[in-house]
Amino acid sequence: MVKLSDVNSKLLKAHYAVRGKIVIRAQEMEEQGKKIIYCNIGNPQALRQKPLTFVRQILSLLEYPALMDQPGADKIFPADVIRRARMILEKNPAGTGAYTQSAGIPFIRKAIAGFIEGRDGIPADHNRILLTEGASKGVHTVFTLLTNKDNDGYMIPIPQYPLYSAAIELYGARRINYFLDEGNHWGLDGAELERSIEEAVKNGIDPVAIAVINPGNPTGAVLSRKNIGMVIRFAKKHGLAILADEVYQDNVYAEGLEFHSFAKVMHELGEKEVTLFSFHSVSKGFLGECGHRGGYMEIRNMPDDVYAEVIKLLSIGLCANVDGQLVTYLMAAPPQPGDESYELYAKEKGAILGDLKEKAGILGKGLNEIEGMSVDVPEGAMYAFVKFDLPHPKGVDPEAMTPAERHKYETARDSKYCLRLLEGTGICVVPGSGFGQRPGTLHFRTTFLPPKEDILELVGKMKKFHVSYVAKLLEA
Ligand SMILES: Cc1ncc(COP(=O)(O)O)c(C=O)c1O
Repeated sequence: MVKLSDVNSKLLKAHYAVRGKIVIRAQEMEEQGKKIIYCNIGNPQALRQKPLTFVRQILSLLEYPALMDQPGADKIFPADVIRRARMILEKNPAGTGAYTQSAGIPFIRKAIAGFIEGRDGIPADHNRILLTEGASKGVHTVFTLLTNKDNDGYMIPIPQYPLYSAAIELYGARRINYFLDEGNHWGLDGAELERSIEEAVKNGIDPVAIAVINPGNPTGAVLSRKNIGMVIRFAKKHGLAILADEVYQDNVYAEGLEFHSFAKVMHELGEKEVTLFSFHSVSKGFLGECGHRGGYMEIRNMPDDVYAEVIKLLSIGLCANVDGQLVTYLMAAPPQPGDESYELYAKEKGAILGDLKEKAGILGKGLNEIEGMSVDVPEGAMYAFVKFDLPHPKGVDPEAMTPAERHKYETARDSKYCLRLLEGTGICVVPGSGFGQRPGTLHFRTTFLPPKEDILELVGKMKKFHVSYVAKLLEA
């Protein structure tokens, strides 16, 4: 029998906080009949967000095309849905049960190039667009492609989405932390990037790429065009590739802010040397189709011989699942004004995004009113990264600890806080240490995806819990 000692040590070292111990405990409690408010993961449809009608109607016809010829089909499906399904079947006659090209179905890649051109007003090449099973698969592809030596390093934001820290461990690469500035709406600072790369190089690391998440997870921050330009210049100066994680591009709520893609800013800067990998997904935005595992990766500034290796790598996994490719197509080519489905589609989309914006405000405002807690009202994405203060037990002085001791102490504190919160209130959030945080600070990450009533309940329960938790620590 395979023993734990036989398991790949790189896998043993990897952590993925958003599905860790606290979630397992939440599931146990739920089985015992306790109500759990799951705020640990950005999984919209698990939290009662409805799928868009247009997407599901087309998928049903494509999974069972005979439906289109049934009497009465025209009463169930709008005419543009039937037209679109027929068009897709013509372009992909093998249907959903057949492997596709490794890069994905060609007409879908062309539609995505059109989507990027429409979004950014820049040219896009469908021969540099690859369909992936969610953004996660795209990120893994890049790590396989670029990790070559034991000292290859990836710059990742702190706090970060743990896909990046876990991939670094899995692929045997080195991690280069750059801290986002909590005091400045989690902004990205050029001096901090220089500090972190300088320290890494001093430690013998060879930096190969920088990952940027925009809008941010877990921070909810939206990067300015200027910030993005700064990262591109930084990458050029240090010979880095860029991984631009743009899965939350439709989730921008703050007035006056807008999403800028790395591809657009790079094009405007006339940058032709820095290799860019941009990721997008059907999991987030307003589709929330996490379970369909669809998405794409667009590559810029990559020679043909390297691109051929990317294709070879994808071909080793054959292709992305076809339903995921189809949902990605529908994300890139939604119904247009004049189409029979357009009105309902626009209404459903508007309701989902409007609701998220409202809930971001309720959560941010409510938590800020709790003494000892502070959070930036999320500008985008689906999360708030909430700072909280706890008194230290008598005789404990974190300043006197080594960095490793302090890290252990603080990780234990935010984890215990989140576990007690779960056990006391049924609210399931993720400890900040799973995403990384500056020494001396404690956080948790919560989504604002649950229904509005649950968010209001969460804020009320959180307040009571925090006050009593702090009081108990003071008594101890
Ligand atoms: C920043 C970020 N990137 C990537 C992903 C993975 O998404 P996908 O479902 O497309 O693999 C997530 C999921 O939460 C995320 O938050």
